Amino acid sequence: MKILSIVGARPQFVKLAPIAKACAAAGVEHHIVHTGQHYDPMLSEVFFEDLAIPRPDVHLNVGSASHAVQTGRMLAELEPVIQESNPDWVLVYGDTNSTLAGALAAVKIHQKVAHLEAGLRSFNRAMPEEINRVMTDHAADLLLAPTEVAMGHLATEGLADRSVLVGDVMTDVLFGVRERVLAGEIENPVCAEFGFAAGDYALATIHRAENTDDPARLEAVISALSQLPFPVVLLAHPRLRAKAEAAKVELNRGAIRLHNPLAYPQLVAAALQSCHIVTDSGGLQKEAFLMRIPATTVRPQTEWVETVELGWNQLTEPEGLLNAATRPAPEPTTASPYGTGVAAQEAVKALLEAVTK
Ligand code: UD1
Repeated sequence: MKILSIVGARPQFVKLAPIAKACAAAGVEHHIVHTGQHYDPMLSEVFFEDLAIPRPDVHLNVGSASHAVQTGRMLAELEPVIQESNPDWVLVYGDTNSTLAGALAAVKIHQKVAHLEAGLRSFNRAMPEEINRVMTDHAADLLLAPTEVAMGHLATEGLADRSVLVGDVMTDVLFGVRERVLAGEIENPVCAEFGFAAGDYALATIHRAENTDDPARLEAVISALSQLPFPVVLLAHPRLRAKAEAAKVELNRGAIRLHNPLAYPQLVAAALQSCHIVTDSGGLQKEAFLMRIPATTVRPQTEWVETVELGWNQLTEPEGLLNAATRPAPEPTTASPYGTGVAAQEAVKALLEAVTK
């Protein structure tokens, strides 16, 4: 069996790591196409190095542009690559523009497509990610879902017969890296650089278009972060820096300590010793739960509803951020709605079972 993985943005490299490993273990031929949606080394290169992902076989270098231009470039460039590769499965990941472009380019030339992390829904159609995931799920032939809730959404949309519950591959990666951190192999850069002790600081990431692109909302989020009663290390995505500069919103103020994005192992090391995580990232709010660090998510909805139901994640608007991030500690839980860390093996097994060529 031959799989062609299409990736392009930071969270997809994290998901790709365990899939590449599981393919190698199962003797599956695996090729990687990088669309180039993310091109900064800290959003791309370092993930391949740190997570021991094989180099992409093809790099398209599409770069940044508007949604239509970026997605359109990817579509045009992916078509001949997929055609020439002629894999048993084109595998697309998550919910970015690279996901939608990969699925659409493949299905239009009658190549089988599988979607990893299928069935997640925020029901907020203003999010580009929501449009990407709904369209990708309906275009794909095989839907690899991370949770029971995601399976339920797929069934509601009439997609049950194409869906398989495999668990969450980001959990696989996190558990592996956490072991390395706990074994002392990875230093916490936040404690090293700022001189904080464990538990003395919060981590924050804000990069979603809904939070960054409206200057008033961006100012409200940053202002709330700056007023927290503990230091907040803000890991600034290039999009956040660009939008803050354009809107003249000062990021470096009050409780905020500005920092560049971290590589994945360093992020896990820093998160494990933080007292709280404030984010609008899909991945980080769930990783916080898996590490049992309380999280506040600056969004009106979440796809990872289990984190909220179990009390470890609270959704908030910017005005409620201060209260949410200083709330009392949640009840301990042993729940594992995201699987036990073997989702990538399950996904490769499902791909092998469903192969039709
Ligand atoms: C994308 C995904 C988002 C995901 C995020 C993870 C879509 C629609 N969104 O958002 O779901 O959570 O990746 O990081 O696909 N930029 C750089 N260097 C880079 C990449 C981007 O400077 O390597 C800047 C550019 O100014 C660019 C902006 O960030 O215009 C936005 O980048 P883009 O890839 O369009 O979306 P993200 O915000 O990264």
